[in-house]
Amino acid sequence: MDLIDAARDIQQRAHVPYSAYRVGAALETASGEVFVGCNIENANYSNSLHAEEVAIAEAIKNGHREFRRLAVSSDRRDGVTPCGMCRQTLSEFCDGDFRIYCDNGDSVDEYALQELLPAAISEETLK
Ligand code: THU
Ligand code: ZN
Repeated sequence: MDLIDAARDIQQRAHVPYSAYRVGAALETASGEVFVGCNIENANYSNSLHAEEVAIAEAIKNGHREFRRLAVSSDRRDGVTPCGMCRQTLSEFCDGDFRIYCDNGDSVDEYALQELLPAAISEETLK
């Protein structure tokens, strides 16, 4: 799958001196463009950026607000899913049926965002 390939390719740019765990993410916009991100770690661990955050920031920065699909991959090909923080970040811009593909090497696990983050806090919540 092209989106998984893009998530695999960008892992080479990851900055992971602490975890040695490379993550890549590829986000497809409603218009069919793909924006990628990798994790960027920091000696102050909590400053680290996740691959999904970097991909979303890149897409938003380039004027996109509607998204179709996301692929996530680690160099372990372990089916890594977006963490809780990244799920919430995705839910700011994506519907519950937004598709998330996770790389298991020989196979891909597919989730809907609402499966991974039911009852997300949203703009509605704050009204
Ligand atoms: N990581 C991501 O890039 N995305 C996630 O949602 C899960 C975790 C990164 C953060 C850290 O650099 C490494 O994986 C180990 O947690
Ligand atoms: Zn995350």
